Amino acid sequence: MRRLSHRLSRRSRALARRLPLVSCIALAACSGNAGSPATPAARGEPAIPARVAAQFPSGWRLAAGAQGTVAPQAMAVSNSPDASAAAVEILRAGGNAVDAAVALGFALTVTWPEAGNIGGGGYSVVQMADGRTATIDYREIAPLAATRDMYLDANGKLTDKSIYGHLASGVPGAVAGLTALLERYGTMPLSRVMQPAIRLARDGFVVDTALAGSMSRAQNMVNRYTGIATPYFPRGRVVGAGDRLVQPDLARTLEAIAKEGAAAFYRGWIADSLVAEMQRGGGIITKADLARYAPAWRTPLRTTYRGYALVSMPPSSSGGVVVAEALNVLEQYPTLPAFGSTQYAHVVGSAYQRAFIDRNAKLADPDFVPVPVDRLTSKAYAQALRATIGPRASRTAELETAMNAISVPREREPEHTTHYSVVDAKGNAVATTTTLNNSWGSGVWVRGAGFMLNDEMDDFAAQPGKPNMFGLVQGEANAIQPGKRMLSAMSPTIVLDSKGQVLLVLGAAGGPTIITGTSQVILNVLEHRMSLMDAMRAPRIHHQALPDSLTYEDGGLAPAVLDSLTQMGYRMRRLRALVNVNAIMRVPGGWEGVPEPRRSGGAVGY
Ligand code: GLY
Repeated sequence: MRRLSHRLSRRSRALARRLPLVSCIALAACSGNAGSPATPAARGEPAIPARVAAQFPSGWRLAAGAQGTVAPQAMAVSNSPDASAAAVEILRAGGNAVDAAVALGFALTVTWPEAGNIGGGGYSVVQMADGRTATIDYREIAPLAATRDMYLDANGKLTDKSIYGHLASGVPGAVAGLTALLERYGTMPLSRVMQPAIRLARDGFVVDTALAGSMSRAQNMVNRYTGIATPYFPRGRVVGAGDRLVQPDLARTLEAIAKEGAAAFYRGWIADSLVAEMQRGGGIITKADLARYAPAWRTPLRTTYRGYALVSMPPSSSGGVVVAEALNVLEQYPTLPAFGSTQYAHVVGSAYQRAFIDRNAKLADPDFVPVPVDRLTSKAYAQALRATIGPRASRTAELETAMNAISVPREREPEHTTHYSVVDAKGNAVATTTTLNNSWGSGVWVRGAGFMLNDEMDDFAAQPGKPNMFGLVQGEANAIQPGKRMLSAMSPTIVLDSKGQVLLVLGAAGGPTIITGTSQVILNVLEHRMSLMDAMRAPRIHHQALPDSLTYEDGGLAPAVLDSLTQMGYRMRRLRALVNVNAIMRVPGGWEGVPEPRRSGGAVGY
C-alpha cells in the first residue's frame, strides 16, 4: 500500500511538471475573474448586438446566411410541427408560455412518441417577464426494488437490461412535473391545455417523413418488447408518411389526466395498467413507486458568460453545471480563436474534456450525494482549469489526477430526448427538455394506456467505471439506489440580454452531446455574433473526456485543421451529425425560431 501511494505521488509530481497547471494548483492567488469583461450594457453595447456573417468550412453541408421562422409576438419550437402548433393554439387562446409549454409537452407524447412522453421525465426552466425564475426536476427515479447490481449477470458482466425491456424503466415523472408547473406558473386549467393533445390522439394526425422513419427504425424493438400490435404498427406494417396515426388508448389516458390531474396517472387505472405491464414483462415498478413520485423544484443554476446571464438546470441534471463550467473556462480567454480554426477546436474541446471529467465523477442526484455545484461553477475554478490547457491535447487519465489536486477556496456567493422552447408576447419563456432516453425508450408500450416507457435506468452508472449506452464512464456517485434520480445531461437554458430580457431559449436531445451542442449554439450567438440560424447550422464538436477523443461532424472541420489537431495529439472521431437542438432567439421586431437543421421539427409563431 505504501509503495502504491509513493508511486502515485511520484506520478502526480511528474504530471504537475508536464501539465501547465502553473501556480493555480492551490488557488489562493488565482481567485476572482480576471479577464472577464464588463457586461455588454457597461460596454455600451445594445441588448442584442448586430449579427456577423458566419463562415463555415467549404466542405460543410449546411449553408450560412439563411433565416429561421420570425414572428412578432410569440414562438414555439419543437421536434414536431403539430406539437408546436398546439402550443400556439393555447397562446392564441390567451394562455401564457407555461400554459403553452404544458400543452406542447402533452402533445409531443402523441406526435413524437420516440421521445415526447408521459412515460418518461424531464426538466423545465421558466423565466417569467416579472423576473420570477424557476426550475423543476421531474426526472424518473429508481424503483424501490432497484439494487446497485441489478443489471449484472451471474458472472458480474453488464447486461443490456438497463436499455431494453421492462426492467429498464425508472418511475416516470413527466405527468407530475407538467401538472405542477402548470399549477404554479400557468393561467389555464389542465383540461384546457390538454385539449390539443387529446384531439391529436383521438382524431389522429398526418404522419410526416421524420416520424415514419423513426417508427420504421423502432418496429422490431417495440414489437419484441411489447408483443402485441400497437397503433404505430397496425397489422404488422408501419404507419407511413402521409397516413393518419390515431391512438385511442392514449386519448383515453390523456382525457383521464385532463379530468383528474396527475392522480389519474399515479394512483388510478393508468397506474394499474402500468403495473400490470411491469408484471407481464418482469419489471419492478409498483403502485407504491408511482404513488410516492414527486417532482422537485430546484434552485435555478445561474451563471454568466461575458456579461450575459444564463439560467439553467442544476442537478439531478449535469447539464447546467457542465455548460457553466465549460463556458467559464472559455471566458478566461480574453477572446476566443476564430470559429472553425484549430485553436478554437482545441480550446473548446479542452474545456469540455475538463468539465466532463468532473461530470463523470462528481455529479449525481443531490438528494443522495453532496454535489459541489458552487465549486464546479466558480470562476476561480475555471481559471485553474484554464491553466491546465497547454498547446497540445491533454490525456484524460492524466488530467483526472491533476484536477483532483486543484484546491479552490469556498466561494461566499450564494450559492434522449427532445427539447422544446416557448416564448409569449409578454416575454415569459419556458425551456423544457424531456426524454425516454433511447429513442422509443425501453421498447415497452403500456397496454390499454397507450404510451411508451423510458429506459432511463441506463443513465445510472449500472456498473461504475464501465461505459453506458452513450460511452459515458461514470462513478460511484451515480450508482443505482432505490428512489434516486439518475444523472442526466439535459440542459434546458435561458440566456438573458444586458437588459435582463430573454435573448435565447434553447436545449437539445442527444445524451452527453446535449451539453456540447447547447453550449456551442450559445457560444456562436454570444461570442461569434452569428444569427440564430447560422449558430444552429454551424458545425459542432464534442468531447466527453472518455472515450478520450474529439468528435467532429463529417465535413465540419477543414482538412488542414484535422491534420493539425491530430498532430497536437487528438484522437479524432467523425460522426455524420451531432445532436438535436431547438432554439428561439429575440431578434429586432420579434422572435426567430429554429428547429434542428440536421433533423426535423417545427417553429410556429404569430
Ligand atoms: N437520457 C439522456 C439524459 O438524460 O442525459
